[in-house]
Amino acid sequence: MRLKDKIAIITGAGSGQGRAAAILFAKEGAKIVVSDWKPELGEETVTLVKSDGGQAIFVRTDVSESADVQKLIRTAVDTFGRIDILYNNAGVGFSSPLSMSDVINTPEADWDRVIAINLRSMYLTAKYGIPEMIRTGGGSIINTASIAAMIGSEAAHAYTAAKGGMVALSRALAVEFGPRNIRVNCICPGAIDTPMIAPVVDPLKKSGRPFMTSPIRRLGTPDDIAYCALYLASDESSFVTGATFVVDGGYTAQ
Ligand SMILES: NC(=O)c1ccc[n+]([C@@H]2O[C@H](COP(=O)([O-])OP(=O)(O)OC[C@H]3O[C@@H](n4cnc5c(N)ncnc54)[C@H](O)[C@@H]3O)[C@@H](O)[C@H]2O)c1
Repeated sequence: MRLKDKIAIITGAGSGQGRAAAILFAKEGAKIVVSDWKPELGEETVTLVKSDGGQAIFVRTDVSESADVQKLIRTAVDTFGRIDILYNNAGVGFSSPLSMSDVINTPEADWDRVIAINLRSMYLTAKYGIPEMIRTGGGSIINTASIAAMIGSEAAHAYTAAKGGMVALSRALAVEFGPRNIRVNCICPGAIDTPMIAPVVDPLKKSGRPFMTSPIRRLGTPDDIAYCALYLASDESSFVTGATFVVDGGYTAQ
C-alpha cells in the first residue's frame, strides 16, 4: 500500500476530485479526514470510504474561516495523532453563484469571497497545519490550483488570481519548510468532469460540442487528478517539492 497508516486531511472531499482522492487514498491505506462545508456530501464520502473497508471521519469546515480550519486541524490530531498529508482541494468556480466574470463586472464582495475560499484557505491550513507537521517530523502538502494560473482568460478573474496565488505560495512554502521535511506541491488541473464545471459543460454536451479541446480529446476525470495527488502524497515523491504538475490532457501545451 502506497499510503499505509498515513493520516490525510482532504478539503472539499464531499465531491469531485476531493471525493475521488479520499476513496483512492483510503484504498492505499491512509486514514482520511474528510473536510467539506456541506455535511451531507462529506458524510456520503465517509460512507463510500468505509464501504470499501477504509477509515474516515468527517469534519464540517468552511475553509475560509479560521475557527473552522483550527477545529479541522485539532480534530485530525486528536483523532489520529498526526497529519501526514494536507490536501487543499476545496474551491469554488463556475458552479458557484459568486461572480466568475472579468474584473470590471466582478462585485467587490464576490472578489473577496472567491479569494477567501480559494486562497486564504491555503494560508489558514498552512498556518495551523504546518506546526503539527513539524511536531511529528514532516509531511506532504498538495494544493489544487488550476491551468487558470498558467494561461490568461477573459473571465473568472478572481478565480484566476486566487489560483495564481496558490502556485506562488506553494513554491514559497516549499522553500521555507523543506528543511523541516515538509514538501509542498501544486496540481493544476485542466477541465475535469465534476459538478464545478457542469454549468458550462452540460449545455455543450447536449449540443454535442466539445469543451476546451485538448490533445487527449476528452475531459479529465476526478481519478486523473487523484492519481497525481496520490504520487505527491506518497513517499515515492520524497525528492519532489515546490513543483507544479499540470494535468490537463495537453491543453496548455497547444
Ligand atoms: N473541475 C475543473 O474543471 C477544475 C479545473 C481546475 C481546477 N479545479 C479545482 O479543483 C478543486 C476541486 O474541484 P472539483 O472540480 O472537484 O469541484 P466540486 O465542485 O465537485 O468540488 C468542490 C468541493 O469543495 C467544497 N467546497 C467549496 N467551498 C468550500 C468551502 N468554503 N469550505 C469547504 N468546502 C468547500 C464543495 O462543497 C465541494 O464538495 C477546486 O479547487 C477547483 O477550483 C477544478
